[in-house]
Formats: sequence, C-alpha cells, structure tokens
Amino acid sequence: MNKYTVSALIAIVAVVAGLMALGHYGLGNDSQARSLQTNMKQIQRSYKAALKAEDLQTLLGSLNEMKAAAAEARTQTPRSIYGEAADSADMQDYTAGMDRLLKQIDEAVDLASQGRLSELPALFDNMDAVKEEFHERFESMIQS
Ligand code: HEM
Repeated sequence: MNKYTVSALIAIVAVVAGLMALGHYGLGNDSQARSLQTNMKQIQRSYKAALKAEDLQTLLGSLNEMKAAAAEARTQTPRSIYGEAADSADMQDYTAGMDRLLKQIDEAVDLASQGRLSELPALFDNMDAVKEEFHERFESMIQS
C-alpha cells in the first residue's frame, strides 16, 4: 500500500465517520429522531393552530399533534442539563413539567369533546403559564 492509498483510506474513513455523526445528531435521514427544539416548535405551531381553530375537527387535530410532540419532548433532555442522569432532580423537574402540559392537553380534548368550548381559553392561558414557568427554569438555552 503506497502513501496515496493510505491517504485515500483515511479520507474515506473520515467521511463515513462524519456521516454517521450527522445521523446521530438528527441531521440525517432518520425522521424518527426529532430534536427537542423541533418538538418544541411543533408544540408552538399546534398550540397556535388550536387557539384559532374554528371547528371541532381542526381543534382536536391540533391538540392531538400538540400531544404527540409533547409526549416525545418528555423523553428528551434539555440542552441546559445534557449529561445529567435520567433520574437527576433537574430531569425529574423537566418531566414533571411536561406531564403538567400533557395533562392540560388531555383536559382540553375532554372539554372540546364535551362541547364545553367556553372553558378552553382559561385552560390555554394555564398552558401558557406552565410554559413560562418551565422556560424560566431552563432558560439558559431558550431564545424565544
Ligand atoms: C405551550 C407550551 C410550550 C410552548 C408553545 C413551547 C415552545 C417552545 C419554543 C418555541 C422553544 C424554542 C425552540 C427552538 O430552539 O427553536 C422552546 C424551547 C424549550 N422549551 Fe418549550 N414550550 C412549551 C412548554 C414547555 C414546557 C412545559 C417545558 C418544560 C417542562 C419546556 C421546555 C423547553 C426547553 C428545555 C427548551 C429548550 C430546548 C433545548 O434545550 O434544546 N417547554 N419551547
């Protein structure tokens, strides 16, 4: 093996390792691996869509999307506490916050299904309050 072949092999290994790293960090084709940020953006989109929904089907659809994104976000780790054990106090705090949001989304689905639409604005305000409370707590990495 001459030195050019060795250089070529090193280059190939570097490219393959780079592609594997991209896949690992969610930039590859693996659509199952949505980042926490992507899920948060989806929560926000669905929340806004639910607020301005004008029919029950759209409202329930938005709430379901919001719930799916929140459920996935619950299994992820905020950047501010990367590296902490899954059962650290911060991680428990974070999952408890996501549980509160998930419970509120379920309540919204129940209210909407029962036609109790006049009770929804207060519940949406409460969701916003939970968001504020937890964004504040994990604020070191929040830009919005
Ligand atoms: C209606 C409820 C919520 C909305 C609309 C919302 C929205 C957002 C948005 C737009 C971002 C910025 C995403 C980006 O980087 O572009 C964000 C980030 C974040 N949110 Fe929320 N959020 C909500 C509730 C929560 C709750 C309940 C928690 C914690 C229990 C939470 C924890 C976080 C964290 C930790 C980040 C930073 C992401 C990271 O570390 O990578 N959010 N959220």
